[in-house]
Amino acid sequence: MDTMQVNKVFAALLVSGITFFVAGRVGVILVPHAEEGKAHIKIEMPVAAGAAAPAPEQPFEVLLASASADAGKADFAAAGCVACHSVGEGGKAGVGPNLYGVMGAVQGGRPGFAYSAALSGKGGKWDFAELNKWLIKPAAYAPGTKMSYAGMPDAKKRAELVAYINTLEASPVAIPAAAAVPVAAAAAGGAPSGEPIGVMLAKADAAAGQKSTMTLGCIACHSFGDGGKNGLGPNLYGVVGRPQASHEGYAYSAALKGKGGEWTYDQLNTWLTKPAAYAPGTKMSYAGIADANVRANVIAYLRTLAAEPKPLP
Ligand code: HEC
Ligand code: HEC
Repeated sequence: MDTMQVNKVFAALLVSGITFFVAGRVGVILVPHAEEGKAHIKIEMPVAAGAAAPAPEQPFEVLLASASADAGKADFAAAGCVACHSVGEGGKAGVGPNLYGVMGAVQGGRPGFAYSAALSGKGGKWDFAELNKWLIKPAAYAPGTKMSYAGMPDAKKRAELVAYINTLEASPVAIPAAAAVPVAAAAAGGAPSGEPIGVMLAKADAAAGQKSTMTLGCIACHSFGDGGKNGLGPNLYGVVGRPQASHEGYAYSAALKGKGGEWTYDQLNTWLTKPAAYAPGTKMSYAGIADANVRANVIAYLRTLAAEPKPLP
């Protein structure tokens, strides 16, 4: 074979390769429209990515204030949202509704789309915070939703996605400036900041703590109900007062198993300040909750996860 022929063979291979690839893409784009409103494509986020799991360090407001809408546009494609949603003005509904103008609109209220009762029954409006909660885990936000999407565990990407969704408007709402938030006061050591946990718990708000488990991303890795499944992290029902690293059927790190103590309020407070300082080598890829009030609220919520909550200290 002379060089000319070799080149031709290569060219032929290349062309057939490209055709194959293009056909594949076209198939992916066409399938969602075959039967509107029914999920043909299930996209699960790699929630079980282990050590690669993101560690949400900063509150959503702070991440949002510096989030890039352009990065969000790229995330929207990379995370697979484009498979189900159009974004242009007057764009057609696919498996999911068109998202132009969704910010500020009634939840589940786009005309011409058959929403689940789970979402249309919410009756609220989409704002920055609600979109963030929705995208953490749609099925937790609106149980029974038709959006077959596991959720976006990466807090930074969620902020970018929300910033991008905000641009899908004739006149986007201004992104609220983040209040100065004390970032990682305890970042250097493992010592909890704030007053003793007993004092903090006395004024803590368990309902606010439950909300924080969503906004801080705990729910991406943990279930909280009685008999709930283990995910990336163990189920947390009854965690207050139970021996550390003892939930059935969960493979803990030696770092946490080796502690051998009980989850007292104090231990939980130190753990949640900075898991990696409390149990160096732990599998929980989470930077920690820097704000002592938020920690106390979360612990107050964990306390409620029991048939008979342990007495406050
Ligand atoms: C497998 C298809 C699918 C994927 C992937 C998907 N969605 Fe959805 N989405 C839906 C469906 C279906 C609904 C309607 C849910 C319902 O009625 O319960 C929806 C609803 C929504 C809504 C609420 C719209 C409204 O009018 O209230 C937003 C916002 C949204 N999706 C954003 C996203 C983003 C951002 C991503 C990517 C991170 C994404 N979706 C990925 C199918 C999908
Ligand atoms: C990226 C996933 C991830 C996130 C996010 C996460 N955790 Fe964890 N969590 C884990 C893993 C994994 C373990 C087991 C740690 C080990 O074995 O070292 C764990 C363990 C725990 C334990 C000890 C459970 C036991 O049975 O001993 C508690 C309590 C806990 N997490 C609470 C929280 C709270 C509260 C949040 C949110 C502020 C949170 N976690 C966020 C993955 C996560």
